[in-house]
Amino acid sequence: MTGDGQALIEGQDQGPLIDPFGRQVTYLRVSVTDRCDFRCFYCMSENMNFLPKREVLSLEELDRLCTAFVDHGVKRLRLTGGEPLVRKGILSLMSSLSRHLDSGALDELTITSNGSQLKTMAGDLASMGVKRINLSLDTLREDRFTEITRWGRFEQVMDGIDAALAAGIKLKINAVALKGVNDDEFDDMIRFAHARGMDLTIIETMPMGDIDKDRLDMYLPLSEVKRRLGQSWDLSPIPYKTGGPASYMQVKETGGRIGFITPMTHNFCESCNRVRITCTGTLYLCLGQDDAADLRAPLRASESNDLLNQAIREAIYRKPQGHDFVIDRENNRPSIGRHMSVTGG
Ligand code: GTP
Ligand code: 5AD
Ligand code: SF4
Repeated sequence: MTGDGQALIEGQDQGPLIDPFGRQVTYLRVSVTDRCDFRCFYCMSENMNFLPKREVLSLEELDRLCTAFVDHGVKRLRLTGGEPLVRKGILSLMSSLSRHLDSGALDELTITSNGSQLKTMAGDLASMGVKRINLSLDTLREDRFTEITRWGRFEQVMDGIDAALAAGIKLKINAVALKGVNDDEFDDMIRFAHARGMDLTIIETMPMGDIDKDRLDMYLPLSEVKRRLGQSWDLSPIPYKTGGPASYMQVKETGGRIGFITPMTHNFCESCNRVRITCTGTLYLCLGQDDAADLRAPLRASESNDLLNQAIREAIYRKPQGHDFVIDRENNRPSIGRHMSVTGG
């Protein structure tokens, strides 16, 4: 740490978390488990080694950590995984965190989910103040769904979508663009999503973690997807923002929105407002970099939050400017060794 850096941290003991590039961190993504009941081939290998349970933070520790960030001005909290809803006790954690919605400290408490557990959990989540869920769904064809998720059950996800909508939760469908796998389906997915009042977001595959297939073979730049969609639909860019990295277009024929998340072809890091915590309490400062800080040790070192708060502030001061993901023949290794399921996207 440089002398200047130290001075900046000391001057910033209170108030919002501002990084060295002047960006305020207002959005925290917390991976509550690295486990998942699916094995999407672009995300995981079939034989994953998951963390031993003793390494994982307890629900009480997760709550304390999230609350420390809320106390530092985080306004939006998204629980992710793996699949967040397979973590035992997840509803009690969500219920406890919802006190920050009631107090007005948080603007949003939400999850990113594969939908498998929503049939039974959507009602409870809605009653805890969850208004919006991002649901990963890459295909509407059952055979492809099985091919992509390996372990997923399509019907279960469809039931989950119905249950969430019936509970009054807004859904955004996340589809990763996979060349030769689902790239002939985006028209159908637009119709499916927009008929149910859901946004659809298409995502470029990011080179994170070893998987069993070649990422270059499946990589599809969204500039190409947009060009093709423009032949079937009347699309116009709109300023709509969720606070996330997607840029949106309005589809005139359906009145619905389609979002594009383009970490590979268009970098949106200059407006980054987020950091991530893994289920072992490691703070990652950027999805596409390895810079991290251990928050578990200061969390466990004392009941007071002094050490934890200091560790958070020091880490934010090290937030990198942006990621540098690359997929090409010369760089046909993951840019980032960890899997997406470690940080939940
Ligand atoms: P909202 O905008 O709040 O709806 O959420 P989101 O799109 O940020 O979150 P979601 O969990 O739905 O993630 C969708 C995709 O965006 C995932 O593939 C994430 O990995 C990716 N993503 C989210 N934040 C970032 C980011 O800061 N950098 C990069 N490169 N990708 C991100
Ligand atoms: N690149 C892009 N998106 C990914 N996801 C998982 N792995 C990758 C990857 N390598 C998506 C999931 C989910 C979100 C959290 O991240 O499909 O929608
Ligand atoms: Fe599980 Fe999501 Fe990864 Fe699929 S993309 S294996 S649903 S964590």
